[in-house]
Amino acid sequence: MTAFKMSKYAPYRSVEEYLQLRPSYVLEGRSAENWVADAICQCFPDAAGGTLAECGAGPGPLWELLPRNLKILAIEPNRALWSPNYQSQVTYCEQDGFQFLVEHPGKVDVIAWMWALNYPLLAFFEEYEPHTRTVTRKDWIEGHHHCLDRLVQILKVRCQAKWVVLFFDDASVEQDFVTRVWKDVAPFPFQDRAHTRKILEMAFQYQASEFGGRVEKIHLQGIAEYGPLDVAVQKMMNFHLRGNFSDEEGVRQRATAFLSQFETSGDVQCPAGAYLYRFIPES
Ligand SMILES: C[S@@+](CC[C@H](N)C(=O)[O-])C[C@H]1O[C@@H](n2cnc3c(N)ncnc32)[C@H](O)[C@@H]1O
Repeated sequence: MTAFKMSKYAPYRSVEEYLQLRPSYVLEGRSAENWVADAICQCFPDAAGGTLAECGAGPGPLWELLPRNLKILAIEPNRALWSPNYQSQVTYCEQDGFQFLVEHPGKVDVIAWMWALNYPLLAFFEEYEPHTRTVTRKDWIEGHHHCLDRLVQILKVRCQAKWVVLFFDDASVEQDFVTRVWKDVAPFPFQDRAHTRKILEMAFQYQASEFGGRVEKIHLQGIAEYGPLDVAVQKMMNFHLRGNFSDEEGVRQRATAFLSQFETSGDVQCPAGAYLYRFIPES
């Protein structure tokens, strides 16, 4: 039986640490934040305010791009990432995003997730403690079914709200590398980030066919700006490869070799991409 040890996601200790470890994404010539902010603004056509729940908000790189009269509920379970700015516009909630959405039906107009929905979808796996539990192929497959059921349940409860979700493009050069490293560690099905994205797509499509609504999907190509090579390796190891690798040094060397291909004038700029989804329920 194939099994491997699963680690918890990187619990960033401060806003500064998080910002140092996060690559910046430029997609089709604009920042990822700009794309998401525009998609959110389109959901509030009269600019007359309303309530946005941003799940997995971190320190809120989006907010300065949003209208000031929008009320923002920032759902962020890691209190170390709460930003002291934006006090009047933003209320932080220290909760799991899914739990919040289930407990507060009807409270918000738009739900947004930027680089964050894969976390609660895979929370099932994060319950496995490194060194104490292992994940088997069977666990892995059941976990993905469980994730889909969970998301469908949430959409059902929250089918009156619009959703804006930014997800990694799993076929990009950057994510292809991440997937190859993971597959070497744990050769399971559903290993790449495509599968959490497909869970989201299936849930949206099911929701639209059962209860009405439409799904919009835009593919965005671009680059991930990683900075100087030594910083880039740190970012790759922490932001994307949060593994409990038995050969940590070997993985680091692979990351260095991979990223150095994209180093020009002292900075690493790696080809990357994203999918931007909007789910508009039937009004
Ligand atoms: C990759 S970061 C993205 C942060 C921010 N949206 C950005 O673009 O910089 C993922 C965020 O999701 C948060 N997160 C992890 N598990 C979560 C959960 N179950 N519900 C909501 N957010 C979660 C993490 O604490 C982290 O802040």
